Formats: sequence, C-alpha cells, structure tokens
Amino acid sequence: MLLNILVKLAVLVASASAAPQRNKNGANANANVNLNQIRGNGQGIQAAQQLAGPGVTIVEKIVQPTAGDPTFLQFRVAMPQTITPDMGLNVLLHGDGGQSFFAMPNAKLDSNLIGVTVLAPNAPMKWGGLGNNRPDGPQHATLVKDLVTSVLPQMIPGFNQSRVYFTGVSGGSLTLTSAMIPLYGNMFQSGWLIMCGGLPSPNGIPASAIGPNTRIHVQTTTNELTFLQQTIPTAITDLNQAIAQVPGVTPQQAATQFTFDGTPNGGHCAFDGQGFSSGIQAMVSQFTAVMLNGQPAQGITAATLTPLAQAKPFAAVAGAAQNGGATAQNGAANGGNANNRKGKNNGGNNFVAALQQVSNGQQR
Ligand SMILES: *[C@@H]1O[C@H](CO)[C@@H](O)[C@H](O)[C@H]1NC(C)=O
Repeated sequence: MLLNILVKLAVLVASASAAPQRNKNGANANANVNLNQIRGNGQGIQAAQQLAGPGVTIVEKIVQPTAGDPTFLQFRVAMPQTITPDMGLNVLLHGDGGQSFFAMPNAKLDSNLIGVTVLAPNAPMKWGGLGNNRPDGPQHATLVKDLVTSVLPQMIPGFNQSRVYFTGVSGGSLTLTSAMIPLYGNMFQSGWLIMCGGLPSPNGIPASAIGPNTRIHVQTTTNELTFLQQTIPTAITDLNQAIAQVPGVTPQQAATQFTFDGTPNGGHCAFDGQGFSSGIQAMVSQFTAVMLNGQPAQGITAATLTPLAQAKPFAAVAGAAQNGGATAQNGAANGGNANNRKGKNNGGNNFVAALQQVSNGQQR
C-alpha cells in the first residue's frame, strides 16, 4: 500500500511539473482526451442500490453536456420508479479520487430529492483540476450546470427544476465554493451542503448567487487538513459577504438559514469521529434534518448550529497542526499561499497529495 501511495505521488508530481500552460476553457483537454468511456466498472453500484432500497434504480451514463466543449461527464442517478412534480435533486460532487461518486451516500430518496453523483472529468478524479487553486473549476462548474439544466430534465422528465440542492465533499466543496456558487448560484437557489472543503473564489461571490430562501450549511471537523483550515474560513468570508447583501433576509432569518458546524472531533470528513467514508455517509444521511428542517445532525453536530456569520472555524486549534500526520502538514506548509486571491499556483501540489493520501488510506 505504501508503495502504491508512493507511485501515485510520483505520478502526481510528474504530471504537475509536466503540466502545459493552462487556459481558461480547455485546461485539461489533453489529459481528458480518452475519458469518453464509463470509468470504474460499476464499482459501488450494488451497494448504492442496497442503500437506495426498493423502487429506486441506480442508472449510470456518460454525456457531453456542454455545447462547444468536447468534455464527457459521467454521472449516476438514483432513479425512482415514478417521478412526481415535487421531486428535486441532490447533486453530489465527490472528493479527490472519487470515493463518494462510487459510494453514492445520497442514493436513498430523501425528502423527495433524487440522488445524483457526478464524476470529475479528469483522470485523477479531482474536481476543479490539479493544484491548490483548482484552475478548471469554472469549466467543471459549467459542465455540471449544463448536466443539471439540459441533460437531466430529459432523463428524469418532470422533476422540479426549482428544487436542486448541491452537496460537496472535500475537493467537490472546493469547486462548489470557488466556481459553482459564484458562477451559477443565481440558477440554483435551493441549498448547498458544503462539507470538509472550501476555497475562495477569484472574484468573490455576487449577492445574486444567493436567493432569499437559499439554505447553506458548512460542515467541518476539529482536525481538518491544515491547508483547509486556511481556505475554509476564507470561503466562509466570501459567502458571508454575499449573504449580507441579499435583499430581504433579516439577520434573525440569516442566523438559521446560513449555518456552520465544526464540532465533530475527527479528521478530514470524519464527521462521525471514525473515518472518511463513514463520516460522509453519516452526515449525508441527515440531509433532511440539517438542510430542510434546520435541525442538528444527531450524533454529529452541536445541538445548535452556529450562524455562518459567527463561524470561527478552527479557532481552537489554529496554529496547532494536529491532524493528518506529516504529509498533510507538509502540504499545508507548501500550499500556504493558495488563499491569496488571484494567487498563482505556487506549486503547492503537496496539498493535493495529502488529500489523495487521506482518501487512499480511507478507501481501503
Ligand atoms: C418546486 O420547488 C419550488 C422551490 O422549492 C417550490 O416553491 C414549488 O412549490 C415546487 N413545485 C412543486 C410542484 O412541488
């Protein structure tokens, strides 16, 4: 296993240094050229089917959702037998390496939200591409937006297109906060569950990205990866700046509509205090409580969620890199500039390696 990790790290380092100049749209075009086939050999579908229960079928497809962009996007839908007009979607973007794409923690029809997972369109399965600042975030966000607004309405005829929630896990949360919300939040105003990740957007978040009833909850743990302990607070600042400008939301309303919790005593995404996959599953299983009913997640969060405006993530552990061992600390040390807006990629791919290592370790 160690050898496996080392090989992966070597590949990462090699591909990072060999990376060609990126441009805004076709950033990873070369790396993605052969990704036109379903990947993963159906891994996880049976377990997701079990989780979903009777009456739901896991369907997997690959499409080119965006006109003028040849990129293919692979996705899974937990398709109910009958679609009713009150049904919406819960679209999940996985963390680096794809674990939650395959596991589909949102496979069960919950509050009539149809679970959808989407696979990052690059070989290492990293939303937003390589590097701390996730330079492909805007392109990936556009692909997801087009999947939801053009492809899924044909495939799931009659679902409520005004009821589309998003869930981010780690690298998925980096793309949601830095690209999806800023660019397309105006089209998706139901809610965002941002778990164990967050990245500031190059130009901040416009107020129009958040609607008068948009629900946002940011969830982390005490022992988050050190790099994320720097970027999550900055992403929260971006969100709060936008929220403060949304017309018609009183401070009282905002206190329960936009919330934060960082109390679970665990490492990266280990909301149950146990592990990466189990923590994510435990949190997603309480989507209705947290996102629709404004309640705590039993056994995970504090009894009262903190208003996002008052969030002080990692205040208690700031400066005391306690988690993740040497690699995560290293990654953070070298990636420390990424919360610098417009910051160039300062070569902090060690953060990516740290995340990769976390998810490798946890997937076994
Ligand atoms: C669709 O969703 C919107 C937003 O949640 C809601 O206002 C509307 O009533 C829903 N429509 C149906 C038919 O449930």
